[in-house]
Amino acid sequence: PFGLGRPAAADSFPSRTITVVVPFAAGGPTDTVTRLVAESMGRDLGQTVVVENAGGAGGTIGAQRVAQAKPDGYTLLLHHIGMATTPTLYRRLAYDPVGGFETIGLVTEVPMTLIAKKDFPATTLAEAVKVIRRDQEKLNYANAGIGAASHLCGLLLMKAVDAPMTTVPFRGTGPAMQEVLAGRIDLMCDQTTNTTEQINSGAVKVFTVTTPERLPALPNVPTSTEAGLPEFQVGIWHGLYAPKGTPAEVTARLSQALQVALRDPKLIARFAELGTTPVAQEMATPAAHRKFWLADIAKWKPIIQAAGQYAD
Ligand code: MLT
Repeated sequence: PFGLGRPAAADSFPSRTITVVVPFAAGGPTDTVTRLVAESMGRDLGQTVVVENAGGAGGTIGAQRVAQAKPDGYTLLLHHIGMATTPTLYRRLAYDPVGGFETIGLVTEVPMTLIAKKDFPATTLAEAVKVIRRDQEKLNYANAGIGAASHLCGLLLMKAVDAPMTTVPFRGTGPAMQEVLAGRIDLMCDQTTNTTEQINSGAVKVFTVTTPERLPALPNVPTSTEAGLPEFQVGIWHGLYAPKGTPAEVTARLSQALQVALRDPKLIARFAELGTTPVAQEMATPAAHRKFWLADIAKWKPIIQAAGQYAD
């Protein structure tokens, strides 16, 4: 019975509560996606899946926590496109940003929106660009640190309009949104999962969505191509990870639960209200996720290098 056959741990997985680390603050877009997925996965796994927020440093604090956790499937990471930009953006990290993880599956595709405080003196993207160029030294742009989706989007925006703005980092765009609502932050580029409801209630201004097509959840918001800034395009994706060395049987079981969660009608309906969509079932597997992730690292590397923005 000792050391023969499949390890008992994999056979009985999961036998207790699973923790999914969100590397950003509570109440933000990654948190929103994770809570919906965790609840639904927990039903399929027959165990509670709790969400723990470990925000800061553009998602690298939470990622490090998971890279250094026991590889037993009980500590997972739900992270976004930052997993593809961080390896280039950071010269030094206390963990291996690629080799430190096993992939479980891709989760969502999320569009970005460029929003502003309610009394920002522009209504269209063209007007906003004029204000950004004119007042660049006075304007505050919020992001969730280097490696955040809001950071990447800001990088692309500033490049497209050729005007650097003062960036103010937060532990996540959940808290940053509070500052936009309070009028203390001028602009932010953020995922629709965090902005759709604020846009539709008129609490913030919106200038564009960064996708090729308009979104059903935001039908009146022009695409960046329609608004005259076609190079301003970025789509955010999320994936689920485990620490390197997590047994393949365990990641396979988690992938299976993820696939079930992504077909949950309640989750799909809520995602749609927030302008986001679950990935196709075949993308929610360890192999498809890894392939996509590595390709995205290669895609963003030259863009980040050309922008010359690094963190130490
Ligand atoms: C968050 O959950 O706060 C975000 O995904 C922040 C970001 O990456 O912009």
